[in-house]
Formats: sequence, C-alpha cells, structure tokens
Amino acid sequence: MNLLRARKGEPVVRKNGETLHRSLSEGIRRELTSLDVRAGDRVLEIGTGSGYSGALLAQLCGPAGHVTSIDVNPDLIARASDIHQERGIDGVDCHVADGLDGYPPQAPYQRLVSWCTFARLPRAWPDQVAESGRIVACLPLVELPSITVIATIAVTNGMPRVQAMFSAGYVQSRAQAYDDVHMPHRWVDASFPGDERCWIGVGWRHRDGTGRGARDTLDRILTAGHTEPCPPGIDWDWDRFDPFTGTLDDPGLSMVHLPGRGRAIGHTSPTSAAMILVDGTILADAPRSASLTVLHAWLDRWQRAGRPGAADLTARLVPNTGPDCPGWDLRVSLPGVVPAARAAVPQPRSARSAPA
Ligand SMILES: C[S@@+](CC[C@H](N)C(=O)[O-])C[C@H]1O[C@@H](n2cnc3c(N)ncnc32)[C@H](O)[C@@H]1O
Repeated sequence: MNLLRARKGEPVVRKNGETLHRSLSEGIRRELTSLDVRAGDRVLEIGTGSGYSGALLAQLCGPAGHVTSIDVNPDLIARASDIHQERGIDGVDCHVADGLDGYPPQAPYQRLVSWCTFARLPRAWPDQVAESGRIVACLPLVELPSITVIATIAVTNGMPRVQAMFSAGYVQSRAQAYDDVHMPHRWVDASFPGDERCWIGVGWRHRDGTGRGARDTLDRILTAGHTEPCPPGIDWDWDRFDPFTGTLDDPGLSMVHLPGRGRAIGHTSPTSAAMILVDGTILADAPRSASLTVLHAWLDRWQRAGRPGAADLTARLVPNTGPDCPGWDLRVSLPGVVPAARAAVPQPRSARSAPA
C-alpha cells in the first residue's frame, strides 16, 4: 500500500521528499501489534496524518469493523479522505476534531490508538472505550519533552490499567493544526529560533526565580567546558535510560535538543549542567560540575539496577484533574520501590517483554 505517493507536491510533502505528519513504519508496526485489532472491531484513531495508519487499521478490522480517524488539521483530513476514496478503502471516516475529547458521536470503540502525545491519558478515552477494550498511546513519564513510552492500557468498568510499555515517542498533541512537527511546544522552558532545533526543558521551572534560569542553562550546555565519554562500566543504551529517568523524581532532571547533536538528558540547576547525548557522550559545564556528580550517580544506579528499560518498570496511573487535560498521569517506579505519591492508583507491574 503506497498511499504517500499520491499527492507529492502538496504542503504535507517537503521538497526533499520527506513526508510530514507520517509516523515511522516501525513505530506503526509496534503500536498496531500492541493494539491487537480484531475483525469487526470499531477503532478510534487519533492523528490521521497521511492516512497511512488508518488504511492499515481498516484492513485489520475488515468489512465488519469500522475506523474513525480524527486530526486537528483540516488539510490532512481532506487529503486522507480523498486518498481513501480514490483507493476504494471503505470503513474509514475522517473528521476534524481534537483527540483530547475522543470522538463521542461514534463511541464506544473496542480499540483506541493515538499517534500524538497528550499531556496525560485524557479522561474522555476510557469513557469512550467499550468494556474490555484497549488503548495504545504515547504518554509522558515526567513534565519534560521526549521522556515518553508507548503504553498498552486495558479498560475495565471504565477504569484504565497499564498492561505493558515500550520505549518510543511521538509528536506532542496540539489543539490546532501545526507544521513544525519536530519542535515540542509543551514543557520547553527556553529555545533559540533557527533551522536547527535548540531547546531545553527543566524540572525546576517552578523554582526559577529569575525567569532566565533555563536560558542561561541552555547557554551553559552549548558552551560546555567539559566533554567526556560515558563512564567505564556503564553499558549505555539511550532507549533504556530515557524511561528509567522517569523513576528519579528529581527536579534537576532536564532534556535538551542541541543543533547538530540531537537530544541529551541529564541534570541541571541554575548554576550547573551535565547532559548525556544519545551516543553516550557527556557534556558538562566543568569537570567538577555538581550536576556531573549527580548524572554519574544516576548512571550508576541504573547500571546496578540491571539497566531497566520501559518494560521493566512498575506503572501507575495517577488521577490529575488539570483543566488542560483532565485524566491520569502515567508514573513509573523501579519494581519493589514504593513511590511517595499519595494519589496513586496501584497498578500491577507491566510485562517484562515487549507487548505481543
Ligand atoms: C505522527 S502524525 C500521525 C501519522 C499517521 N499515523 C500516519 O500514518 O500518517 C501525528 C498527527 O497527530 C495530529 N494531532 C496533533 N494533535 C492532535 C490532537 N489534539 N487531536 C488530533 N490529532 C492531533 C497531527 O496533526 C498529526 O497529523
């Protein structure tokens, strides 16, 4: 199925051939495997994009099932609807809507899948999923960009329960159409405009008295006075360390994206910074940086815990009535470690292996 060749030259396809608003095939494959769509299912898809995943879903649920696909971008909805019609793909209808509210007119759904990352699991989703239904969605573990997992969530009596998690990320959701798919807009505390993304999110934003702390810290990282390789004895793996940081419960946890170097995760404060890049290189403000000491301790803790990744963590859904997105925060801890949060709804430990 090659839906993406149909409309070259339209705004969703860049001059270099890159297609905007399309999930990577590997991500689609993993998420659809977790979703486990059965013939006859009614499916809600949030994030129509190119229409590609909607067409796959229509195949999976067959003529007896139905796919409702929604997106905030009216151009994408019009384009995907045209393509489905041209290709004779029945059983998908596309609507302009904000996935935050689900899509009540065609509820209930046996399956709900989201291709964009909301601030938390929205309250509306379990409400619109049928008994014993399933949700597969990308959810943040902390209030920073790019610390996310794909969670498989069972719904029983309208209550969601995490069944499994794997490491991956999708673009953040927005209430309106947007083109800059790579720039997060939520939980970014300072950014420099330009072709190459350069931004920082810090966990201490609410304690930043000056209001300039995050920008100064980003400057400090861009002019890092100290670089070192990943410490000996640490078997580095970004995809496993990234979700583990969700267990740290430390306001120093920070995420940056640097021009030409990509993402880095680590510890910052208003006066220090130490970040580890995807390739394992560490950047710090100074060889004796206080943040570097903290980052070394985190790496050591992760290694000694057996390098836990998303599938090894214990998940819980914590109710959050925040008006931006009422629902549940996904929080993680190491197995056997009791989290401090009082409002926690206990959840069983997620499956050790990637979801079937
Ligand atoms: C990665 S793309 C989805 C790609 C799609 N799976 C495909 O196969 O082409 C993410 C989509 O989510 C949409 N989106 C972002 N925020 C949304 C929201 N609040 N509600 C619905 N869709 C949203 C974006 O417009 C974008 O088209």
